[in-house]
Amino acid sequence: MSRAALVTGVTGQDGSYLSDYLLDNDYNVIGLHRRSSTNSFMRIQHLLEHPNFKLEEFDITDPSDCSRILEKYTPDEFYNLAAQSHVGTSFKQPFTTFEINTTGVINLLEALKARSPKTRFYQASTSEMFGENYTIGNDGKYQNEDTPFAPQSPYAVAKLASHRMVQIYRESYGLYACCGILFNHESPRRGENFVTRKITKYIGQLLNGFLRDSHYRPLKLGNIYAYRDWGHAKDFVRAMHMMLQQDSPEDFVVATGSTHTVKEFLEISFGLFNLNYEDYLEIDPSLYRPAEVDYLKGDSTRARDILGWEPEISFKDLVSDMVYSDFESANQIARHLNASFGGPPPGLANV
Ligand code: GDD
Repeated sequence: MSRAALVTGVTGQDGSYLSDYLLDNDYNVIGLHRRSSTNSFMRIQHLLEHPNFKLEEFDITDPSDCSRILEKYTPDEFYNLAAQSHVGTSFKQPFTTFEINTTGVINLLEALKARSPKTRFYQASTSEMFGENYTIGNDGKYQNEDTPFAPQSPYAVAKLASHRMVQIYRESYGLYACCGILFNHESPRRGENFVTRKITKYIGQLLNGFLRDSHYRPLKLGNIYAYRDWGHAKDFVRAMHMMLQQDSPEDFVVATGSTHTVKEFLEISFGLFNLNYEDYLEIDPSLYRPAEVDYLKGDSTRARDILGWEPEISFKDLVSDMVYSDFESANQIARHLNASFGGPPPGLANV
């Protein structure tokens, strides 16, 4: 019989890839999304007619809704990918960040305990919880499950509180609940306010003439010297699923093990078209964060040994997947506009 999985945050990058993966593995997927007056289904458009996929409105900040949804479905697996996931935004909206990323998780854990204690629960924890901390080994600095946490943003503090809550509910009530400490993971479905997608979208528009002449604007970024361990989201959702297939629940670091600066991302992505990023970049100090995590490089030896997880997509392939996808999307828009209007109308440069 098919297993059933509930996925919060289904309209986001990870929710959409995880749903693809679970449906390919014969699951029934119930995608939970927050009500919105605008269409937020771009990333799951291809799933809306799938016979094993169903959407349901849901709000993680409402305890009664958490009880209702678990009582209604008592699913085999529950993946909590709902979050206020932008670190920079968390400095401006610390209360909202806490409500969704911490109180929301407690709502879910309470509802699981009371309504569906056999459900296996996955919580999206994050490498941001390490903050400035790292361990020093033979190959230099890295973070793994033994590296102490030192969160540096309201986002990271909220995620660390829920991380610990999941452990407490697991240890105190015997829930099968675990956390994936995922390092950065990107894709063509990445939100446009994260640095990788901001860059690749800009390149797509540049190459398709959207930024020509009076429409020109520079690419404005903040700190380009931060190191991130960037993997492909498609690889990372497999690890989420693997964590819920173990005999007992445990937390795992999921990372590629290699790290690059934002500057290197710029060099490689612009370099694919023989462009020099320095000709387009403007550093905007208003995009610096009040506190920055300077260096992330994950050691996922435990996930590799115990889960048998390996990333399959290299950093260079990730960058080109994103750049070519944004190039093609902008190209399609340009073709459409050329056919309909003879060129992009003024103001479209900032689309
Ligand atoms: N977003 C953004 N926008 N980041 C910028 C910019 C900019 O214009 N300019 C420089 N950066 C730098 C940030 O300061 C940070 O050092 C780095 O680019 C990456 O920023 P993001 O892409 O926003 O990702 P993040 O590392 O802060 O957080 C992501 O990864 C975490 C896992 O480590 C998010 O996906 C989090 O939700 C996730 O938990």
